Amino acid sequence: MPRLYFQVLFLRHIMSNPFIHHISEQISAASGLPAGEIAEKIEVPPDPNLGDYAFPCFSLAKRLKKAPPLIAKELAEKVQPGDLFAEIRPVGPYLNFFADRRALVRHILGGVLAQGASYGEGDEGTGKTVVIDYSSPNIAKEFHVGHLITTVMGNALLRLHEARGYRVVGINHLGDWGTPIGMVIVAFKRWGDRLKVETSPIDELLKLYIRFREEEEKDPSLRDEARAWVKKLEEDDEEALALWRWFREESIREYVRIYDLLGVRFDEYSGESAYTKQVDGVVARLLDMGLAVPSEGALVVMLDAYDMPPCILKRSDGASIYASRDICAALSRYEKYRFDRMLYVTDVRQSLHFRQFFKVLELMCVPWAPHLEHVAYGLLSFKGEAMATRSGNIVLLKDVLGRAIDLTRKIIAEKNPDLPDREAVAQEVGIGAVIFATLSGRRIKDSVFDWDEILNFNGETGPYVQYTHARYCSVLRKYGHAVPPPDADLGLLASDEAVAVLKRLEQFPQKVRTAAETCEPSLIATFLLDLCAVANQFYNVHRVISEDAALTKARIALVYSIQVILEKGLKLLGMKAPEGM
Ligand code: ARG
Repeated sequence: MPRLYFQVLFLRHIMSNPFIHHISEQISAASGLPAGEIAEKIEVPPDPNLGDYAFPCFSLAKRLKKAPPLIAKELAEKVQPGDLFAEIRPVGPYLNFFADRRALVRHILGGVLAQGASYGEGDEGTGKTVVIDYSSPNIAKEFHVGHLITTVMGNALLRLHEARGYRVVGINHLGDWGTPIGMVIVAFKRWGDRLKVETSPIDELLKLYIRFREEEEKDPSLRDEARAWVKKLEEDDEEALALWRWFREESIREYVRIYDLLGVRFDEYSGESAYTKQVDGVVARLLDMGLAVPSEGALVVMLDAYDMPPCILKRSDGASIYASRDICAALSRYEKYRFDRMLYVTDVRQSLHFRQFFKVLELMCVPWAPHLEHVAYGLLSFKGEAMATRSGNIVLLKDVLGRAIDLTRKIIAEKNPDLPDREAVAQEVGIGAVIFATLSGRRIKDSVFDWDEILNFNGETGPYVQYTHARYCSVLRKYGHAVPPPDADLGLLASDEAVAVLKRLEQFPQKVRTAAETCEPSLIATFLLDLCAVANQFYNVHRVISEDAALTKARIALVYSIQVILEKGLKLLGMKAPEGM
């Protein structure tokens, strides 16, 4: 049988909701089941014609030895509506409750207005720490669009967790060690130009890397040369370290510019290089425990019992490797932060890597191993015309952002040529379009960027949400008095359209909580689109500012709440909420 009703309520919040409190007390008195248990089962019907809340009677069937529809009928006679409900009606196995609209509006909107910009926040994270490992581009390789998702997603997860009270530590685990660095050193020494690297580090280092890959096809000895440089690095050779340090600093300087544009921050820029020295100690521990074994000259942990290929700790030339550096990083981060949860945000192609080293930590009997999570996302591609690329066929993140801003500038020049701050708004909306498009689908699904689509002010896009937000800002400006109006009679907002908006607003705190818990910012994106749709329906039917002063105040209170929550939701995704566009 298909489930008709959605379970959307959470125990923590249940008893603070007077409607649910009342239903639970009444049904408890009539059935003998504890009120808390009943509260947990109360649902919100997907169709408002079925009421505001519903109690499914299946759970009482065994206890009362009766069929659920009969129970619903009998309960309907016993349960008292009080002041809160207008009607209680049995429908099949459900007992449906229709709230008194005025009471419902006062309860929901009163809550939003009382909390203002902190509506949606929660405290289940208080005293807990979440470490988020995100962005983490590879120095001397590329900062390409693949890193767009991890950067934007990690940032949203950071904000969502902060909103729910967690202490959040954002770490950029730079790919700043290993063979590619050796390759770029070789390439730089042969074909490099200091000034070019300083002017445009990301482009230039990538070019050198690509050149190396091309030349090594013709002359395989280059590869040995690159290996030799990696070895020198691991042996603290001054020349090698100086070049490495310089590549790294120049790259970070350019990353920070991109992060500033995106509004992304990190508490720690470390990277793989920080852990190379610890690998030997950890490998010794793994050898002691009998977990590490030699295999074809390398050192590995066998994982065939878990249906995985071996986790390689050290290569045959003794060099450390991605996985062993990750094991060391996890151990050292735990020492430093005592996290309750650590998230690694990368694309799904790295899933095996994470499963492997999580398993090694588990085999090492590290008690917090279950608190490590790989937040995997699908791949991103571009529809139609390929992005013009400066270096090889890799689409660089900064080029994508630049293009988004250019296109938005054109749209705004057409739509709203008199807008003050046009340049700043073009940036906020262009970047916002990219962020929203990146986060609006379920994260595991692959996504395709279509420029026309993601910038469409009327589509399911970031600019559409930002535009809707700006429209309500303008209504509030037009109103011209203090908002929210201090003495609004919220009970006046009993229309279907107003109630539909309020029901969306009521869901917001749960959405934020679930988005953080399941690492799914798309829940917020979808919520914002839904809220825009019902808000615009309200706006199209009801004139907000009218002759009727009392009604105007009540409607302004609603518009204010919409504006505050749209702004809050956009910010949780890492977007800006311009007041005009
Ligand atoms: N640098 C890696 C890449 O660009 C991502 C690193 C993710 N974090 C980690 N601790 N392994 O693919």
